[in-house]
Amino acid sequence: MLYLKRLLAATGFTLVAATPTFAQTVRLTVQPGDPKLQISKDIYGHFAEHLGRCVYDGFWVDPGLNVPKQGRIRMDIVEALRKIKVANLRWPGGCYADAYHWRDGVGPTAQRPRTINTWWGDATEDNSFGTHEFLELCKLLGTEPYLAANVGSGTVQEMANWMEYLNSNADTPLTQQRKQNGHPEPYGVTMWGIGNESWGCGGNMTADYYTDIYKRYATFAHNYPGSPKLKRIVSGANGDDAYWTETCMKKIPLDQMWGLTLHQYTLPTGSWTGSKGAATGFDEAQYFNTMKNCLKMEAVVTKHAAIMDKYDKDKKVALLVDEWGVWTDVEPGTNPGFLYQQNSLRDALVAGTTLNIFNNHCDRVRGANLAQAVNVLQALILTDKEKMLLTPTYHVFDLYQVHQNAQYLPLQFQSPEYTLNGDKLPALNASASKDASGAVHISLVNLDTKKTLQLETALPGVSWKTVSGRILTSANVNDYNTFDKPGKVKLAAFNGAKKRGGNLAVELPPQSVVVLELK
Ligand code: AHR
Repeated sequence: MLYLKRLLAATGFTLVAATPTFAQTVRLTVQPGDPKLQISKDIYGHFAEHLGRCVYDGFWVDPGLNVPKQGRIRMDIVEALRKIKVANLRWPGGCYADAYHWRDGVGPTAQRPRTINTWWGDATEDNSFGTHEFLELCKLLGTEPYLAANVGSGTVQEMANWMEYLNSNADTPLTQQRKQNGHPEPYGVTMWGIGNESWGCGGNMTADYYTDIYKRYATFAHNYPGSPKLKRIVSGANGDDAYWTETCMKKIPLDQMWGLTLHQYTLPTGSWTGSKGAATGFDEAQYFNTMKNCLKMEAVVTKHAAIMDKYDKDKKVALLVDEWGVWTDVEPGTNPGFLYQQNSLRDALVAGTTLNIFNNHCDRVRGANLAQAVNVLQALILTDKEKMLLTPTYHVFDLYQVHQNAQYLPLQFQSPEYTLNGDKLPALNASASKDASGAVHISLVNLDTKKTLQLETALPGVSWKTVSGRILTSANVNDYNTFDKPGKVKLAAFNGAKKRGGNLAVELPPQSVVVLELK
């Protein structure tokens, strides 16, 4: 019946499997791993830039909009994001961070200057959402703020003053100002990015020049008594730029950096020039190509991690992929500077696959931020005036939250191939962890649009009695949620996993993301 429905849904469209087929059985082993190695919760971080409708008309709405609000913060969004446990939230950019002057966004709203967001559509920025509003949003979300300091067009003094304003308990004009602006206690913000994409929109610097600049800024990024120690984060490489990472690791002393970033996006066409590919209405070849591009994350992370290992054998410095996700053409008719795109089951498969890659590299990847949370790029949430929808990507973060701060369990398996037009890619990717209660979670992604994967899983050393799970799938990989049909792609209970002796047998449907819980 299910397959008949899928066939009917496929009328006029060629993506759907006519008859399901099975690949050979995959033998998968869940290994005990190192009890001390955790999947950092910060891999499950998000990003809110002053870009398009992410902050304004996203998190921060017009006072007249008829939605639940606290001040101007949109509470239906907050409630939805609280459910998936946003580990940290990066702000105010992105490229915007290197044009942002924090003083424009504090003090009485009516007195804040109007500025121009020259990076994103030349939009008028009224600065009504500034530092205090962002930190209030983080408090409501129960998340850790991750600030990006302006290195491109700001001064060292400006950054140092922002840190004093936020974190010092001393009696100074800056801390008095913070108190007058409604926050007597220091905020204790620890995560600080020192610039963003300094090789590009952050100043078009060379790696050698940036590392000197970084050391200068980091020197004046002060730890205030009573405030938690700063996590100073180096603006890292673009994609597979090994020279950038090598230079940062070689020239910056390890005790001057807590983390180093990496930006790696998935473009359906793989090209920054011309069309990046549409967010919806794509065919199987475009889907296949997108997944091939997504899987490049494995090689990119491996490459940067290997360079970091040369200079930091003890893996003290975290690699933070603080911008990742699918970047398509904007929705027709929308402002090209606002980066608004729809989000299909394909995005969910990219999210599940990418998060599996990060989990499997958790010895080095200890932070990541999907770009971006609301109404921009691979968003978790889309809004249209009062309406709001959860994207397929949101549901993946809902499924995967079980991995946050859980013990990493390595997996061993040989993936079957997903083939199309003589090309191939691994159909299966997965990761696993054990939480504080002893429950084991396995996240499985089947990228093949036609073949069900049969898994026979051994779990030596794990004692478990029951298995349950949830699945995200849909008839077509280009299915998506609309404001009229917000539940087209949604989570469902998964009944395809059974205990067979001590082993776990799974039938993993095509184009699906599944998370299993073994207790
Ligand atoms: O996420 C959108 C933009 O992509 C960010 O502002 C920038 O850092 C990157 O190029």
